[in-house]
Amino acid sequence: MEFEQAYQSALALVEQELAGCFLEEGPHDKLLDAMRYSLLAGGKRVRPVLALKFCEALCGSMEPALDYACGVEMLHTYSLIHDDLPCMDNDELRRGKPTCHVKYGEWLALLAGDALQAAAFERLASSSRATPAANGRACAVLAKAAGCAGMCAGQYLDIADEGRQLDVDRLTQIHLWKTSALLKAACLLGLTASPEEPSPEQWAAAERYAGELGLAFQIRDDMLDVESTPEELGKPIGSDADNGKTTFASLYGLDECSRLVAEHTRRAQESISGVFRDTEFLSRLAQSLAGRKN
Ligand code: IPE
Ligand code: IPE
Ligand code: MG
Ligand code: MG
Ligand code: MG
Repeated sequence: MEFEQAYQSALALVEQELAGCFLEEGPHDKLLDAMRYSLLAGGKRVRPVLALKFCEALCGSMEPALDYACGVEMLHTYSLIHDDLPCMDNDELRRGKPTCHVKYGEWLALLAGDALQAAAFERLASSSRATPAANGRACAVLAKAAGCAGMCAGQYLDIADEGRQLDVDRLTQIHLWKTSALLKAACLLGLTASPEEPSPEQWAAAERYAGELGLAFQIRDDMLDVESTPEELGKPIGSDADNGKTTFASLYGLDECSRLVAEHTRRAQESISGVFRDTEFLSRLAQSLAGRKN
C-alpha cells in the first residue's frame, strides 16, 4: 500500500474511535463539549499512528493498539490545551480554530485538559484489545513520558527559561522532554499492545527512532513558527519569539535547522532498519514529517 493511503487508513481508525468518545449526556455537558472540541479538531494524529504502526511492525496488526493510540492522543490534546493557556504560551489559535480557553474560558479549558489526561489513563487501563498485564505496563509507559521526567519537565524548562539565551545542550534537553518523550511513549505503547513480545533490541530501536524523530519534529516545529503562516499552520506564528524562547531557529537559523532535521530523520530511519518485519511505513513517516507544513 502506498504511504499516503496507509496513513489515511490508520488515521480513519483513530478518528472513528475518537468520534465516539465523551458523548454521554449530563449536567457536565459543557465540559464534555470542551474536551471534544479540542480532541476532534483534526490534528495530524502522529502519536496514535505511531502506536498503531509499531504494533503492526511487530505483530502484523494495528488492532491491539487502538485503545492505546486513542489514549496517547487524549494525553497529547490535554498538553496542547494547557500549553496554549495565557499562563503558558498564551496562544489563541490551535488546529485552525480558537484555542480551548478562547472558546470556553480558562477554568473550563483547564478542566478539559485535566479530564482528557485522566481519560487517557482510563482508556489504557481498561483496554480489552490487549491483556491486563500489558495495560498495566502501558499506563507506566505513558505516566513516565507525561510526568516530571518527561513532558511536564520539558514544559517546565520551556517556560522557566523564557527570556534566557540557552545553549544547544539545554535546548536539546527541553525538546527531548517536551516532545520526544510522548512520541517515544506512542511507539512503545504500540510494542506493548502487541501479543508478540518485542525483543530488547526492538524496544531499544523504537526508543532511538522516537528520540531522533522527536528532535526532528520539534526543530521543524520551531522552523514553522518562523516561516509558516497561521492559515497553513493552524496555529499562530511568531509565538516563540514573542515569548522570548530560545529555539533551534533562533540559535542556528533556518538553513542549519533544515540540515539538522534531515540528520535526525536519517538517524531515526537507521535505528529501526532491519529490526522489525516491515519498516517501510515508519521510515516514510519520518521522511514526511521532516518536510511537513503544519
Ligand atoms: C504540537 O504537536 C506540539 C509539539 C510537540 C510540537 P503536533 O504538531 O503533533 O500537533 P497536532 O496534534 O498535529 O495538532
Ligand atoms: C509544546 O511545544 C509541546 C507540548 C508539550 C505541548 P510548543 O509550545 O512549541 O508547541 P506548539 O508550537 O504550541 O504546538
Ligand atoms: Mg509551549
Ligand atoms: Mg505552544
Ligand atoms: Mg512550537
